[in-house]
Amino acid sequence: MNRKSDFIPFALPSLGEEEEQAVLRVLRSGWLTTGKEAKAFEQEFADYVGARYALAVNSATAGLHLALEAAGIGPGDKVVTTPYTFTATAEVIRYLGADPVFIDIDLSTYNMDPAALSRALAENRKIKCILPVHIGGKPAAMDEILKLKKKYTIPVIEDAAHAFPLSLKGKFLGTLGDAGVYSFYATKTITTGEGGMIVTDNDEIAGRIAVMRLHGIDREIWDRYTSKKASWQYRVVEAGFKYNMPDILAAMGREQLKKGAAFLSRRRQIAAYYEKELGGLDFLILPPPSELNAWHLYIVRLKEEKCTIGRDTFLRYMKEKGIGTSVHYIPLHIMPYYRKKYGFKPEDFPHALHVYQTVFSLPIYPGLTEEQCSRVAAAVRAIGESHYRSTGRGS
Ligand SMILES: Cc1ncc(COP(=O)(O)O)c(C=O)c1O
Repeated sequence: MNRKSDFIPFALPSLGEEEEQAVLRVLRSGWLTTGKEAKAFEQEFADYVGARYALAVNSATAGLHLALEAAGIGPGDKVVTTPYTFTATAEVIRYLGADPVFIDIDLSTYNMDPAALSRALAENRKIKCILPVHIGGKPAAMDEILKLKKKYTIPVIEDAAHAFPLSLKGKFLGTLGDAGVYSFYATKTITTGEGGMIVTDNDEIAGRIAVMRLHGIDREIWDRYTSKKASWQYRVVEAGFKYNMPDILAAMGREQLKKGAAFLSRRRQIAAYYEKELGGLDFLILPPPSELNAWHLYIVRLKEEKCTIGRDTFLRYMKEKGIGTSVHYIPLHIMPYYRKKYGFKPEDFPHALHVYQTVFSLPIYPGLTEEQCSRVAAAVRAIGESHYRSTGRGS
């Protein structure tokens, strides 16, 4: 079981012949950077999620930066989000000279607590934008968030890095706010290695992003070299960024997009399997079984009072059994940068802290075989049962 080849990685991309052929097509075409593949990917993506505009970029981090910039966020502004996320969510706020206002998470969803959001907006008039994260693929409380957006007339930018391709009441996550940003990083629900997509229905936001993602030039690189009116002329209208998605990546993305729905159904099967196998275990809290989850991550929580070992030791034993796991997330408020910059203490966001100390993520990706799923579940069960602490009544 412990031989290297038997190791079950925590995450693996699902790539096939189609992606290989697509990349070869681009390599042989003579056009490697942003061009007709990126244009086609954008059109296909926009059609898929039902957005007016889709803008391909080289990461979701770039996409979040551009979306906030286009929403008018600048120095001195505040953007409200949760500390229970990857650092990209908050670092882009700092890129713009603005500050994150962290609010704690709901203990059952690990997403921003709408009551805490409501309080933050009432107390802090400098908050100019709401940045919810659909953590692990679980939708943030969008009904409440959109009500508060209306009440305070501020934009909502969705960090939908984990959320493709889940739809909620017929609308895709990422299309519910003013703009949404998906990630195609190597471990995400569809991948281009590195990459991202911004979607919006707003003409001004889309126009601003189109200019700012390529040096602040008001013409697309593809037009400059290949359109009938091609010329060496271009105009720089802003000090923009270099965030465009090259065609090699876009070609991969077009193939991954076709597989998005099948990937989601396989992820759902794996989540259902874990639910069935691990559901009765007294030492574990599982995510609620749900169709309403993109299942980028399968996050479980150890009940410390029911286990004689802590989470870190638990994960060491998982590794010894040949199973890769991870921890999502180390909350940002305990990271050295945010502690130093804003003077946060660990107990400032007790839910985020507690969840972090007890969670771990199990492998969940389309290529995981039945046999591998059963090995994962058996390992969790065996480790938990051999370190079970029976406490008090009912145990
Ligand atoms: C919640 C969240 N937002 C944003 C990002 C940034 O994505 P990317 O790596 O595509 O820049 C990530 C990456 O893991 C993420 O987890």
